[in-house]
Amino acid sequence: MVPGASASKSFACKIDDVPTGAARIVSIGRLRIGIFRVGAEYMAMLNICPHRGGKLCEGPVCGTTAYSKTAEFIYDRAGEIVRCAWHGWEFDIRSGKCLADDKLKARTFPVHVEGNDIYLDL
Ligand code: FES
Repeated sequence: MVPGASASKSFACKIDDVPTGAARIVSIGRLRIGIFRVGAEYMAMLNICPHRGGKLCEGPVCGTTAYSKTAEFIYDRAGEIVRCAWHGWEFDIRSGKCLADDKLKARTFPVHVEGNDIYLDL
């Protein structure tokens, strides 16, 4: 967005259209956007991976391996991560940040729920 310009509010989908454990992919203008449900919240992410342009939001919603001081694997953050299907990079659904490199970020959009309708600020 150009500095000083205001975002436009666009209808995305109904809350019942968003599955648990996967994204609902919607088209708004020329943009393809994944709508996710994480707990009671809804998030929106551009369906383009910042690594090599894969369809990020069509990858599995999952958790990740947490840091451990031992050789033990600890599965954590179930349902908060989307894993790009192309090369497996993991992204935080809430922030869009890549878990492997927090300087790399998928584009996210503010979400507003009004009744049963989900709107995005684009
Ligand atoms: S294009 Fe998504 S991880 Fe490479």
